Amino acid sequence: MRERTFIMIKPESVERGHIGEIITRFEHRGFRIVAMRMEKLSREKAEAQYEEHRGKDFFENLVSYICSAPVVLIVIEGEDAISTARKIVGETDPKKAEPGTIRADFGIDIQRNAIHAADSPEKAKLEIKLHFPELST
Ligand code: CMP
Repeated sequence: MRERTFIMIKPESVERGHIGEIITRFEHRGFRIVAMRMEKLSREKAEAQYEEHRGKDFFENLVSYICSAPVVLIVIEGEDAISTARKIVGETDPKKAEPGTIRADFGIDIQRNAIHAADSPEKAKLEIKLHFPELST
């Protein structure tokens, strides 16, 4: 099914010059970029992005890290975009991610894991609405 999902290139990947290579992985897989913007997230937006993790021991660190420097916010579209993007991205912990996935190749540790990708149709919809309200119907 043709669908849209949300991905976010995290601060350390932007700083280390990996934006191009990461976007290329999605383009080579056949996804179309529908919207893209570089932004230094406000605390409010970062907290909204990660609302489901509020209360967990890593929440505060995660929010301050995500707000510490610009990220790249992207909406991609293609066949089974949500599940396929998760496969291209790999497991949360780069050490456990399959070789060839973005997190295995570019992630540093569980927090600085290169990229975020929405993990369900509900989250994809919410995250697209949060960052690109003009695309929401
Ligand atoms: P992400 O896919 O962006 O979604 C939540 C993020 O929390 C996750 O990637 C990690 O970067 C971060 N995180 C930090 N510590 C942990 C942890 N112990 N377990 C899961 N996620 C963590």
